[in-house]
Amino acid sequence: MKKITIAIDGFSSTGKSTIAKQLADWLEYIYVDTGAMYRAVTLYAMRHGFISEASFDSDKLIAALPNITLSFKKPDVFSKAEVYLNGENVEKEIRTLEVSTFVSPVATIPEVRRKLVEQQKEMGKGKGVVMDGRDIGTVVFPDAELKIFLNASAEERAKRRFNELIQRGDQVAFQDVLDNVKERDHIDSTREDSPLRKAKGAIEIDNSEMNLEDQFHIILQLAKDRIAGR
Ligand code: DC
Repeated sequence: MKKITIAIDGFSSTGKSTIAKQLADWLEYIYVDTGAMYRAVTLYAMRHGFISEASFDSDKLIAALPNITLSFKKPDVFSKAEVYLNGENVEKEIRTLEVSTFVSPVATIPEVRRKLVEQQKEMGKGKGVVMDGRDIGTVVFPDAELKIFLNASAEERAKRRFNELIQRGDQVAFQDVLDNVKERDHIDSTREDSPLRKAKGAIEIDNSEMNLEDQFHIILQLAKDRIAGR
């Protein structure tokens, strides 16, 4: 069967990774969570003191980029691939609110983007891939056969993220999560290099009031249509 490329972009916490993984499992495609790559670079920058509440030394991060190697590995066939930073599994550490706070400024750096986009293009070059992020349909795979742009209200997205963090045992205040969601929306959509935009030809889905199952069936049908050349 013909293999296609599926690009899923959208604001933070719109459920991109959940839907992308479901789709990849169903189609037996590779799934790449590009947000995890920006988060892992951010964690590296935090650990080396390049970024903190007080400052961000982007030059030091740019100089250190050749020392950063990212890879993905599935813990088992059913699970989502986990991200490794220089051989260390950092899947858990990259999901904290602290990393979420620093990742947007890190993702504005063109040198960081160039490095990660190059790796993403390489990972998807054989097609049969579902990739989610902010610039997949606009920059990484502008020729993707199916492009989805997911959206939901900021409050709904903050609610989802808050529940996730609480379930993991993180002590966070809802207002801080909502502020972070809004702040990231602003930085992600106003940055100069590859701002978050609905790609040409992308199908926009607002899932504020949609359940996961309905959403999955809509997107799966679109994927089947594209595979059949419709
Ligand atoms: O999808 P996420 O919330 O894990 O992404 C984390 C951050 O990384 C997000 O605030 C913006 C950035 N990002 C990006 O700029 N480009 C991508 N393709 C993916 C993520």
